[in-house]
This record gives sequence, C-alpha cells and structure tokens, in this order.
Amino acid sequence: MENSKYILVTGGAGYIGSHTVVELVNAGFEPVILDDFRNAKSFIIENIQTILGRKIELINAACQDENNLRTIFQKYKFQGVIHFAADKAVGESVKNPLKYYDNNLSGLVSILKMMEEFKTPSLVFSSSCSVYGNPSLPEGVHGVDETIKELDPESPYANTKLICEQIVQDWIASNPNSNATLLRYFNPIGAHKSGLIGELPQGIPNNLLPYITQTAVGIRKSLTVFGNDYSTADGTCIRDYIHVTDLAVAHVKAIDWLWNQNVGTVEIFNVGTGKGSSVLEVIDIFEKTTNQKLNWEFGPRREGDVQEIFANPAKIESNFGWKAQFDVEEAILDAWNWEIKRPKDA
Ligand SMILES: NC(=O)c1ccc[n+]([C@@H]2O[C@H](COP(=O)([O-])OP(=O)(O)OC[C@H]3O[C@@H](n4cnc5c(N)ncnc54)[C@H](O)[C@@H]3O)[C@@H](O)[C@H]2O)c1
Repeated sequence: MENSKYILVTGGAGYIGSHTVVELVNAGFEPVILDDFRNAKSFIIENIQTILGRKIELINAACQDENNLRTIFQKYKFQGVIHFAADKAVGESVKNPLKYYDNNLSGLVSILKMMEEFKTPSLVFSSSCSVYGNPSLPEGVHGVDETIKELDPESPYANTKLICEQIVQDWIASNPNSNATLLRYFNPIGAHKSGLIGELPQGIPNNLLPYITQTAVGIRKSLTVFGNDYSTADGTCIRDYIHVTDLAVAHVKAIDWLWNQNVGTVEIFNVGTGKGSSVLEVIDIFEKTTNQKLNWEFGPRREGDVQEIFANPAKIESNFGWKAQFDVEEAILDAWNWEIKRPKDA
C-alpha cells in the first residue's frame, strides 16, 4: 500500500494537538485538523499557520458527526488518525460523569467506525497516566511501566481513558486492516518556542503550570498547593512533567513506528521523562528561572490526587528511538513565554 501523508488529527486545535500538527508538518506529513472548538480558540489555527508559514486543512465539526466524517475520509486517504479529541477535566468529570462517558467514548467509536470502513492503517490514541491511579511500586522499582496490571483509575475521566483503551484493543482484535498505539501521557507542560501556541485553560486552570503562570501575571491572586503531608520528601505531590513539544514528537514517532508494524498490533507506551518533580520544586524552579515571586499557600489535599507518579519510559525509548529532549526548567520558561505573549481575553 502506498504511504499516504495525510493524518487526521482530531482535537488538533487543542493544547497537545496544535503542537503535534506543527511537528507532523516538520516531519513531512499533511495533517488535517478536525475540531469543533468546544475547548479551543480559532486564533490557535492562525498561529499554527504563522509558525509553519502555510495553510493547514481544518474541519470544524464534532467526531460524532459521522456523515461529515465519511466525506472527509473519502476525500483524504488517511495513513493514520491521531485521536486527541476528548473532554479532560478530572474535577468536572467527577461532577458530571455522563458528559465524559458520552463525549470520550462516542467520539472514539465514531472514529473507529470510519477507520474500519475506509481501512485506515494506523491509530494513535491519547491515553493518560491517570489510568494507573495510585500505583504501589515494589521496593527499588523506578517509575511505573506498562506491565502493571492493577489499574485503578480514580475519576470518571481516567476511567473513560481505560475504557477507550479496551475499546481499541477489542476493535484491533476484530479488524484485519489496522494497528494502534495507546499513548499514556504523563504531565504535559510548556509551549511552543515561538510563544504562539500553548495551553489555554477555559476559566480556572486545573493544571499546575497554567495556575502558576496566571498567578504570576496577576490573573489569579494566589496558588494553593493541595496538601503538604504526603509521604514525599517535601510533603507535596510528585509528577513527571514533559515538555509538550517532546510529547508532540512522540506522536510523529508513533505514526512512523506503526507504519512498520503488522496489522493487528496494539501497544501501550508511557510518554514521560522518567523524572518526578514535586509541586514545591516546580514553584522553586519557576521563581528562579523567571525571576518572579509567586504568591502561594498550602491548602488541604485535593480529592482524587495521587501522591507520586512518574514514568518508566524505557519501552518508548527503545521502540521509537524517542527520548524527552527538554528538562523541566526549559518547559517552565516556555510556559512563561506563552503566558506573557498570549491574548488575555482568549
Ligand atoms: N493535557 C493533559 O494534561 C493530558 C494528560 C493526559 C492525557 N491527555 C489527553 O490528551 C488529549 C488532548 O488533551 P489536551 O490537553 O490537548 O486537551 P484540549 O482540550 O486542549 O484539546 C482537546 C481538543 O478536542 C476538541 N474536542 C473535544 N471533544 C471533541 C469532539 N467530540 N469533536 C471534536 N473536537 C472535540 C476540543 O475542542 C479541543 O480543541 C485528550 O484526549 C486528553 O484526555 C491530556
């Protein structure tokens, strides 16, 4: 089969999707964005085009609009689909689980139906380290790896990711034309070096970095650090922060890797740096690298937060020849550059 350069990127106007579109073009692919802008702004598309110096195909529609999808799949002979489109706020998913089960599951199912109908070779699915829950690692084991069997998603959002992984596994087992990777992202932070695209939370940010940068520019009064009594060195939670550009590049590598695999392959990969940083360490790095003083205070633990999680990225490193290139300092500087430059009314 001829190698088509067209890749459908659902959720391509979002945070990780927009950076992946840039890296796909840099690698010679032709991304087609499908996004209904439920959690994105149209200026991001303009800015992607400014970064790339060319136009990018955009379809403003929902993944669930199957008639529309059919027209798109007919027009482009996609080599692959990178399926980012989903709702992603953990707290909201606890309050409104049906919204999450509805959008995250039905969007995937519609995409898989089209891939099956049009025999699209490759799927890259956005999963999350939140499927692991609070993993208890044996003494001496460094970082969580993909072989852990006791998965314990702690929110409806995380559960949708695990169910979606199972849907993909079942679908691949029944479908002789496709293969798939399930990428379990750790904590993406940072922004494109240009400062033209980055994370754009609607309302109060759920993630640490946008909360830090918004506090530093005065949009938020003070950052609350949720819990100081965890069993970690400084009592705060530990996460594996990965630069969003490194994460974007991992998707390009996944598409390349899948092209060389047999149909019927489905593999899970952690996408992380292998290094954990505590909330207090991140605050300290932010203050030192940006010369900003941050208002912050301790608050009670937040429901659903896991104490400590970071990746063992050995599998993705050996299979894809991929390794995170940026450290937390650089990712934080890029997040700050984006915060300063981004339109504040967006
Ligand atoms: N950002 C993170 O911390 C993180 C961590 C792990 C996994 N993920 C997963 O990665 C993916 C991308 O995350 P993100 O941070 O870029 O989120 P995002 O909200 O910035 O991007 C998602 C995009 O999908 C679009 N979308 C949602 N539902 C849609 C639908 N039914 N049809 C069409 N478009 C739709 C939104 O408008 C948005 O532009 C999600 O699946 C998310 O669950 C994110």
